[in-house]
Amino acid sequence: MDIRLMTIDDYDKIYAMWMSCRNMGFNDVDDSREGIERFLRRNPTTVFVADDNGTIAGVILGGNDGRRGFIHHMAVAEQYRHQGLGTKLVAACLDALRAEHISKVALLVFKYNDTGNAFWEKQGFTVRDDLNYRNLALRELVRIDT
Ligand SMILES: CC(C)(COP(=O)(O)OP(=O)(O)OC[C@H]1O[C@@H](n2cnc3c(N)ncnc32)[C@H](O)[C@@H]1OP(=O)(O)O)[C@@H](O)C(=O)NCCC(=O)NCCS
Repeated sequence: MDIRLMTIDDYDKIYAMWMSCRNMGFNDVDDSREGIERFLRRNPTTVFVADDNGTIAGVILGGNDGRRGFIHHMAVAEQYRHQGLGTKLVAACLDALRAEHISKVALLVFKYNDTGNAFWEKQGFTVRDDLNYRNLALRELVRIDT
């Protein structure tokens, strides 16, 4: 298993894998090929895939805005789960964010995603119940909830 940086050539396989995962949230703009290409251009050192001889077994989109790190769409394909692969991808991403001098990392996970929440708890990501998550759409987005 090769943990390596993602390239845009991985996109189709990754997108198919994301669509096979339950309880994740996507949209038609940020998760389009163009959206992911833009994300990779801004974050060339912090997006990783687990590559099993050409099969994408897992992916983590790590990025930063120069101050905070953010993780999106962590996923491991069903047949590769419970083998520590998710943990390895998180470690690669956090090391890369540290190398970018980022000191804190956040992420979002649906409250009803028990697997995701158990996983992130194990990785040391705590829940902040003193904050409200607020956002504003700057354009129309079509949600794709899996
Ligand atoms: C969450 C996910 C990425 C975990 O990947 P993984 O490779 O199976 O994770 P690991 O093998 O590294 O698991 C590490 C720890 O996470 C916890 N964990 C992982 N899957 C779990 C599950 N189904 N139930 C409870 N705890 C779980 C366990 O504590 C596990 O440690 P253990 O193996 O010593 O018990 C994977 O289940 C997945 O892709 N799910 C669908 C997408 C998703 O929900 N992503 C996260 C939200 S964005």
